[in-house]
Amino acid sequence: MKRRKFLALVGGGVVVAAGVGGFVATRTPHSALKPWLDAGSAYTEPRKRALSYAILAPNPHNRQPWKIDISEPDTVKIFVDTDRLLPHTDPFNRQITIGFGCFLETLRMAAAQDGFGVEENLFPEGGEETQLDKRPVAILKFSRDAKVKPDPLFGHVLNRRSLKVPYDMARSIPDEMLSAIEKAGVAQNQIGTTNKPETVEKIRELTHKAMAVEIDTPRTYKESVDLFRIGKKEVEASPDGLSFFGPMYDSLALVGLFTREGALDRGSSGFEQGIATVMESIDAAMGHVWLVSKTNTRGDQINTGRDWVRINLVTTRLGLGVHPLSQALQEYPEMSAMYKESHGIFAPDGGTVQMLARLGFGKQVAPTPRWELEEKIIGV
Ligand SMILES: Cc1cc2nc3c(=O)[nH]c(=O)nc-3n(C[C@H](O)[C@H](O)[C@H](O)COP(=O)(O)O)c2cc1C
Repeated sequence: MKRRKFLALVGGGVVVAAGVGGFVATRTPHSALKPWLDAGSAYTEPRKRALSYAILAPNPHNRQPWKIDISEPDTVKIFVDTDRLLPHTDPFNRQITIGFGCFLETLRMAAAQDGFGVEENLFPEGGEETQLDKRPVAILKFSRDAKVKPDPLFGHVLNRRSLKVPYDMARSIPDEMLSAIEKAGVAQNQIGTTNKPETVEKIRELTHKAMAVEIDTPRTYKESVDLFRIGKKEVEASPDGLSFFGPMYDSLALVGLFTREGALDRGSSGFEQGIATVMESIDAAMGHVWLVSKTNTRGDQINTGRDWVRINLVTTRLGLGVHPLSQALQEYPEMSAMYKESHGIFAPDGGTVQMLARLGFGKQVAPTPRWELEEKIIGV
């Protein structure tokens, strides 16, 4: 590829497709995206059908920390893969547990679609300690149930995204959309929203500052960089983490302009460019949504996940983008001032701010990679 084209790629982040058509066409990590095509259609067994949708649930850093045991009839036992936690940015596994809530709600909706009810037994052997461990997160019983109704949000599962692109700053969010989001929940969480320019500006500043703290803290920044999957080959080898694929990223990777080492090198232009891209998105918010729970038990965290995926499905239905920005809610010492500030804003009467995200209109993107369901089933 000509130098001129690379400069355009690096400078503007624009994909120069002309003349590299063949390259462009072959850069999609098909195997990493296959679970989105297989959901439902590739399975007949009821539990596997429901699970094939559940694995598409949003979850922090796309760690997909689930381990699934279906060896007993009509039963699904769900465990956490303790090698897939985020010890630095999520020291108490709060966000990982929220991801399990997203998983369980998606599973419930998918089962209902097929006429199955799911009886849930959460943390049957306990789990309130500060760390999740080898004990089950949930034991589920599937049974055919004529009273179970399909959930209208289920139809949006395959188009749901965490939309991380910059949003259209000329397009404001109608109040009716915010009302729909506030009604999305089924658990006892308080869901707040705003599209008021002065409030949005205040939250943009908060989320920007909190991201700067995460980046300035070497171990929390490195936790993310270590999970970068750059280009098709890496994404297909590890379809999880923070994936960068498509012709632009493959091109940059090919000539060594985008590497994990470069991203960690604070003096480099790669570092600066990466941070600028992240901040550009954070700053391009046209509204925000947040979710507060009264207490902060594992059950509250699971319920947060249930409501979070529902919010994300409502935004999908509305054609609105949503992008979680969790930094200011994280529980490590360097973030404590921001944690206090965010709780002062979103939970002035007490409670835990479990989720915070920006809202706005942006172009739909490809789904994020997933491990195949078979990779997550244990004991077979
Ligand atoms: C509890 C939780 C926290 C998250 N926090 C962030 C975040 O701070 N920044 C971000 O870009 N995405 C965040 N996400 C979104 C995940 O990165 C995203 O769900 C995952 O990469 C899978 O992508 P998908 O939702 O488009 O399928 C969060 C998701 C969850 C469930």
